[in-house]
Amino acid sequence: MAAPVNVTDHPLIRHKVTLLRDVDTPVSAFRALAQEITMLMAYEALRDLETETTEVRTPLAVAEGHQLTGKKLAVVAILRAGLAMVDGILPLVPSARVGHIGLYRDPETKQPVEYYLKMPQDLADRDVVVVDPMLATGGSAAAAVDRLKELGCGSLRLICLIGAPEGVEVMRERHPDVPIWLAALDSHLDDHAYIVPGLGDAGDRIFGTK
Ligand code: PRP
Ligand code: URA
Repeated sequence: MAAPVNVTDHPLIRHKVTLLRDVDTPVSAFRALAQEITMLMAYEALRDLETETTEVRTPLAVAEGHQLTGKKLAVVAILRAGLAMVDGILPLVPSARVGHIGLYRDPETKQPVEYYLKMPQDLADRDVVVVDPMLATGGSAAAAVDRLKELGCGSLRLICLIGAPEGVEVMRERHPDVPIWLAALDSHLDDHAYIVPGLGDAGDRIFGTK
């Protein structure tokens, strides 16, 4: 059975996604919103992390507590735009390692081109969370997951802010084992493979490059 595609419908996320889409939202607010939405989504996406019971001494008594166990985490950002999401997750899991994969879409073919790769050495032993704001054709996310599987990763999940049905379909076909979290699932892609209504070019809006 394929892993789930989760479209988070929390009112805080819906509110913040609306602000994120707004063409008049300035760069500074866009970055902050991307980070906040990612944190809210990570809270859901990491819900199944394993814990074990432990004891903790309070000023009054010894209480039962819980601590994270199982595999350690790595966050993998798809450059550039995925960078904006990393700081949304790290406050929740400060010891997570961070990997980077640089991919850009060829403007003609829309196919992803890899230009950078730097991963934690023990990546294969970690639960990996891949982050990228946009799941458009799905080519970039699927190529990143291809690469991570080549490197031995067995436990992967993908968090994107906005997805298109086409991208979800590609991930379902190529990586049905990878669960996906989206803050919104939009209508379709335009002729330039941009998500409609989407939010425009995520990298440009995060870094103010256009
Ligand atoms: C954007 C986005 C994704 C990709 C999604 O990156 O951040 O990585 O496009 O499109 P796809 O699903 O059709 O592959 P882009 O290639 O614009 O590079 P950038 O982050 O450096 O701006
Ligand atoms: N990349 C973006 O940044 N935005 C889109 O809508 C599609 C791909």
